[in-house]
Amino acid sequence: MEKVVIVTGANSGIGLALCERLLTEDIHLRLCLACRNMQRAEAARSALLLSHSKAQVDIVQLDVGSVQSVFAAAQELKARYERIDFLYLNAGIMPNPQVDIKAFFKGLFSRNAINMFATAEGLLTQQDQINTDGLQEVFATNLFGHFLLVLTPSQRAGASVVSGGSHITCRVDLFKQRPAHCLQYRGYPAQKWDGTIQLLQVCL
Ligand SMILES: NC(=O)c1ccc[n+]([C@@H]2O[C@H](COP(=O)([O-])OP(=O)(O)OC[C@H]3O[C@@H](n4cnc5c(N)ncnc54)[C@H](OP(=O)(O)O)[C@@H]3O)[C@@H](O)[C@H]2O)c1
Repeated sequence: MEKVVIVTGANSGIGLALCERLLTEDIHLRLCLACRNMQRAEAARSALLLSHSKAQVDIVQLDVGSVQSVFAAAQELKARYERIDFLYLNAGIMPNPQVDIKAFFKGLFSRNAINMFATAEGLLTQQDQINTDGLQEVFATNLFGHFLLVLTPSQRAGASVVSGGSHITCRVDLFKQRPAHCLQYRGYPAQKWDGTIQLLQVCL
């Protein structure tokens, strides 16, 4: 029986390289590229078919940064495939870190100067927008969307879930991904949120 393999963020980078490798290893598998941009997904599909003309490559629209899109894709996957053998959680974003010039000059004349140069602590900042679901983008994309996806189609099918590790970049202290309503609180709400994130990371 052909194996069904889903790869999120399959249209470029590691995801696309992974798809190439999977088809090289087993040309009989049914590969599904789960991508947010259909044009880029089609281009990736064509590239894969160039090197593996007999491959069965499907596409499903999935924006892991959107809860609605994850549920829609999960429904689509359920309807299309009787089972899923492997689900690769590869899609992810990593906003480029910027140097905080103010923090640099403040740190330069403080007791933390050596530590700042040794670890870059407090020196680097990262832009992370709030998305339409009210979640911070990195958290929603790298962790939460995949978490929802794992709960839905694969649970029924008993798939092997392979995480690319992007959820690890969702550390609370690095990305401050508490939702806006938690940022203004300390104590229980903040701890509860941190606990939730750690739980999600364990689940993945
Ligand atoms: N490269 C590294 O050194 C490294 C190290 C540690 C972990 N990782 C993780 O490995 C994974 C792949 O890395 P990469 O270097 O191949 O990154 P990449 O070249 O930037 O590719 C990321 C892929 O994820 C897709 N993607 C991003 N946001 C998405 C969303 N909301 N919904 C669906 N797809 C989305 C992108 O699609 P679009 O084309 O539509 O943007 C793209 O296909 C990422 O999760 C990354 O965090 C990479």
